[in-house]
Amino acid sequence: MQARFITFEGIDGAGKSTQIDALVAALRERGIDVEQTREPGGTALGERLRELLLHEPMHLETEALLMFAARREHLAGRILPALEAGRWVVSDRFTDATYAYQVGGRGLDTAKFDALEAWVHPRFQPDLTLVFDVAPEVAAARLVRSGGSPDRFEREQRDFFERVRAAYLERARRAPERIRVIAADREPEIIRAEIEAIVAERWFR
Ligand code: TYD
Repeated sequence: MQARFITFEGIDGAGKSTQIDALVAALRERGIDVEQTREPGGTALGERLRELLLHEPMHLETEALLMFAARREHLAGRILPALEAGRWVVSDRFTDATYAYQVGGRGLDTAKFDALEAWVHPRFQPDLTLVFDVAPEVAAARLVRSGGSPDRFEREQRDFFERVRAAYLERARRAPERIRVIAADREPEIIRAEIEAIVAERWFR
């Protein structure tokens, strides 16, 4: 069976982490070899860039360039080798996050985003993307409950997350085959079952 690349997206606090772990466990139950990874990050250099991206103030274009720099490394060092070796890859975020956060949230010029995407991964997209959709106030309450000190993105205000959310939904409308929107304000068990059904319907029937 051909290896698949699945990505999880959504605003901070949308609740994707538990669901990523659950899907990876379910795939492994089926005997599938899975690499679980994240962006920004996923490689030694990528994790160092993540530290800067999450904590160091910077120009919005620097932010976009570093996101794609980390992604280039991630593709070369981890995602593509895994897929070529037949291993599935499940990533917490990928390029849709740059569209949502840097274009939608921060106002990066769309043409610059398009150019970077075309440069870093021409003709390559995830096989399936799950966008966790939830109101920013619900997500913010979840972040507060989870504790920890907020990073540069998590400190943004509600209107920022409204724009990020809208950008994710817009991108989903333009790629309905690839991107599935998950209503994330429901019980984790219901969401888990829905995700397993989406994956099963595509690849295990
Ligand atoms: P996140 O994936 O939410 O990790 P954690 O759950 O550990 O906080 O954090 C990554 C942050 O980086 C998140 O706020 C979104 C942001 N981000 C972008 O702005 N653009 C991108 O392209 C990516 C991959 C992430």
